[in-house]
Amino acid sequence: MVDKKLAEYLNKAIGMELQVAIQYMWQHIIARGLKSAEISDKLRKIAVEEMQHTERLAERLDYLGGTPTTQPEKITVGLELKKMMELDAKAESDTIKFYKEALDYCEKLKDPVSKRLFEDLLVDEEGHHNFFETMLEGN
Ligand SMILES: [Fe+2]
Ligand SMILES: [Fe+2]
Repeated sequence: MVDKKLAEYLNKAIGMELQVAIQYMWQHIIARGLKSAEISDKLRKIAVEEMQHTERLAERLDYLGGTPTTQPEKITVGLELKKMMELDAKAESDTIKFYKEALDYCEKLKDPVSKRLFEDLLVDEEGHHNFFETMLEGN
């Protein structure tokens, strides 16, 4: 049976990924404004990556014998581009902080595969965070 706390980490991660997958896809759809074409395309691309992250986390939890949640964390779309970028930069920095905590726990648990999964996702999340922060510069 899966370690209870690891299952909690994986399910919280799944909820966070579902949140941003929906959040970014909806922002892609409603984005308006001067920079919206560039940002809108990128939001769609990142939304798809977040859904792929959801899949990988859910596959891992299923393999370990747990049940993946279907519930996203609170979705915050925002109305104008700058606000969206602020919400998204915050979502990514919260995720980065949480994944670092999760991978420390995997280390303690001696579960290198789950640890590597969180490490892999962390690389992508730092890339996303960098994109949102870059969009906020000069605004
Ligand atoms: Fe992600
Ligand atoms: Fe991300």
